Amino acid sequence: MAKRKRRPRQRAASVQPGIVGPPRPVPRGIVRPAYARDARGEPGPSRMAPVRSTGEIEAMRRAGAAAAEVLMIAGRHVTPGTTTDAIDAVVHAEVLDRGAYPSPLGYRTFPKSVCTSVNEVICHGIPDSRPLAAGDIVNIDVTVYLDGVHGDTSAMFCVGEVDAESERLVRGTLRALEAAIGVVAPGVPVSAIGEAIEGVARPLRLGVVREFVGHGVGPDFHGSLQIPHYYDPRNSVPLAEGMTFTIEPMLTLGGPQVDLWSDGWTAVTADRSRSAQFEHTLAVTSDGAEVLTTTSGGRCAHELSAASVPGRGSG
Ligand code: MF3
Ligand code: CO
Ligand code: CO
Repeated sequence: MAKRKRRPRQRAASVQPGIVGPPRPVPRGIVRPAYARDARGEPGPSRMAPVRSTGEIEAMRRAGAAAAEVLMIAGRHVTPGTTTDAIDAVVHAEVLDRGAYPSPLGYRTFPKSVCTSVNEVICHGIPDSRPLAAGDIVNIDVTVYLDGVHGDTSAMFCVGEVDAESERLVRGTLRALEAAIGVVAPGVPVSAIGEAIEGVARPLRLGVVREFVGHGVGPDFHGSLQIPHYYDPRNSVPLAEGMTFTIEPMLTLGGPQVDLWSDGWTAVTADRSRSAQFEHTLAVTSDGAEVLTTTSGGRCAHELSAASVPGRGSG
């Protein structure tokens, strides 16, 4: 039998930084988080308790629903030729329309209203003049500040047709988030979350990024509670009813090691392999988890991503 010659894997060019436009203005009537009134955007140490009052959770449902709606709208703008800055414009306008503040804007000097992370960018990509191209995968990470609390959610979107490995990555990352949400309940150690994510990632041979973790969220954008996406048996802190935090696994096709662009924000894989991320804000309930970043009808952008990735449900 003739030996089939292996075709060299088509390598996409690495993402190059584009031009970052000026910050978009926010009308006076919008209530800003404290850091957005500071020139350096310093939030200071989080003094927020890990557990929310029922009133705070109600506010977080409203902030979460607004973030989910904006993310779904942003996803509809993902097409070849659209710049990530155009997506920033859409997110900015839709957030303000809901009477909310776009949390990334001015956070520790982040210059834009949303994070857009393309291909090998793991997270915290700054929207710029680069047009999306067919075959790209992009994470859009929307956080809004509404009624005194933040709602934080992100999803992957495929630009036109993407290669099979990218589909596998995106589908696996969504499954990892869903598996992690599935183990959340009072009394469960924080380590069970990373364990569930690794339980999906390892058989798929996907890397799990360790440098960025899920976080407590509420009146503060980033609370002191840390939610690693890898298994650390020492992290035996038990979850408790009323805790609110994000789970936001970043999985990679190659190694999970991180490099930083000189802009100080854009985190890329050291080997420039592709990375995917999905994120929800959750509240721990008496017997499980409530996903706060869904619309009032219970929808979210993750279903759009799932639909754009063929083969979901088969594994
Ligand atoms: N939304 C991101 C998260 O999931 C944080 C973005 S901070 C920014 O935690 F400054 F980069 F916007
Ligand atoms: Co987050
Ligand atoms: Co986020």
